[in-house]
Amino acid sequence: MPNSPKRKPEADAAIDDSPPTTAKKPRLETTPSHSDPDISTNNDALNTAAPDSQISVPQALAYWSSIPPTVSGVLGGFPQVSRIDLQGSRNFLAKLRRSSTSAAASRKKLTRALDCGAGIGRVTTGFLSKVAETVDIVEPVNVLTDQLTQGEGGVGRIFNLGLEDFPPSAVEGEVGPYDLIWNQWCVGQLPDATFISYLKRLPSLLAPGGWIVVKENLSNHYLGEDVYDEVDSSVTRTDGKFRKLFEEAGLKVVANEVQRGMPKDLFPVRTYALQAA
Ligand SMILES: C[S@@+](CC[C@H](N)C(=O)[O-])C[C@H]1O[C@@H](n2cnc3c(N)ncnc32)[C@H](O)[C@@H]1O
Repeated sequence: MPNSPKRKPEADAAIDDSPPTTAKKPRLETTPSHSDPDISTNNDALNTAAPDSQISVPQALAYWSSIPPTVSGVLGGFPQVSRIDLQGSRNFLAKLRRSSTSAAASRKKLTRALDCGAGIGRVTTGFLSKVAETVDIVEPVNVLTDQLTQGEGGVGRIFNLGLEDFPPSAVEGEVGPYDLIWNQWCVGQLPDATFISYLKRLPSLLAPGGWIVVKENLSNHYLGEDVYDEVDSSVTRTDGKFRKLFEEAGLKVVANEVQRGMPKDLFPVRTYALQAA
């Protein structure tokens, strides 16, 4: 299962005391046969390399280029979670804004937001373009952004780049400022050190009072470890790891919450709002 909504281990430790598998990965039509859950479990047992050291950008891009450009495709076969996810994001942002400004001001549209690892623009069209005048997009896979057009539906600039290359040096100083930089179901594509470097570049792109948001699956590995996913070559991190990386990047968590209403057999999803410490 890719770095999108995904099933957590079925094993309920209270009932079954054998070590749970790191993830039950429902087979997708696009899933290569080597992603068989049993094989994955065996690899986990044998592979002692740090999960993030196994990330391969070419492998990740090959996977994301092979999916259908649909909500189901970007959500790993769980399109039904999109509605509740988008509603949760709207609520989270509304609370965040009300905590820092007046009720009237918090209802005004933001000027500019950035949708990172945007895929087909599910978050842009379903959420960000409703709360911001303009939404810029970062997404390395061109075929996924083909349906989006600059200047239509609130879509601003489209950067076909990985987060590791954003912002591109050619336009440094001409990107942003953003009231909101939204990263959802994509930062697992970056190894830890690359993720920290990326996070460190973001505060200079923020408008005063702006937020960086990271909304991701959380690993609930029985030993508290991150989990490598060979299907899209990503890692699922623990809550503790996320907080450690944010701190190392010089960011503080100003609000966070677990997404309510997700199916119980999927990994929990947590949303973090970050600002410079
Ligand atoms: C699970 S989809 C999520 C898409 C979107 N954020 C959403 O929630 O609908 C993961 C996305 O991350 C993108 N991605 C893969 N590697 C990336 C990288 N290095 N930097 C940014 N995005 C990446 C994929 O192409 C894909 O569009």
